[in-house]
Amino acid sequence: MLRVAVLVSGGGTNLQAVIDAVKEGKITNTEIVGVISNKKDAYALERARNAGIPAQCVSPKDYETREQFNEALLAAVKAYQPDLVVLAGFLVILPELLIREYKNRMINIHPSLIPSFCGKGFYGLKVHEEVLARGCKVTGATVHFVDEGCDSGPILLQRAVAVEKDDTPEILQRRVMEQAEWQILPQAINLIANGKVEIKDGHAYAV
Ligand code: GAR
Repeated sequence: MLRVAVLVSGGGTNLQAVIDAVKEGKITNTEIVGVISNKKDAYALERARNAGIPAQCVSPKDYETREQFNEALLAAVKAYQPDLVVLAGFLVILPELLIREYKNRMINIHPSLIPSFCGKGFYGLKVHEEVLARGCKVTGATVHFVDEGCDSGPILLQRAVAVEKDDTPEILQRRVMEQAEWQILPQAINLIANGKVEIKDGHAYAV
């Protein structure tokens, strides 16, 4: 069984997609062992509890320094003894300690086709605003392994989504979630859980 810890900050629709996929048998060989949010009021925490998954908040507001928060976050993740850490809309600058500890064992879902519209400042709705501002006809989502850079780790899965003429950032965000994020995040976890991912020379492959 692959032990998966999920880190979240918001609504948790990606977390829900993973919970549902495990329940429906679309992800096999996997147990979600814990959910951690940096925000107390994240609806994602409720989704976890509704599914009977241990969930907790580790907020920077509860610590005097960033270092203390970073250590508490790492300790909370480690306590679940995860084989894989999934960042599902976790909007926190990741502590290096965590990145090092879970090298090649931590994935992130990003709402664009990396390397477009990624990196510092590109998260959530902002990504879709910029896609529309540039007049792109295609966008999408990416699942990648997490390394020391910002959205720079090995890409595992990507899916393209059409941009329509009258899209608003909200409409586009929803389409990218439905058609791409909620599909490829569970798919990526299932591949990893079943030993079907290889990382070689800084690139990830589904084998
Ligand atoms: C998702 O669109 C995810 O791709 C994005 O935050 C949203 C979280 O939604 N992540 C990033 O922008 C990371 N750079 P959710 O809480 O409903 O899953």
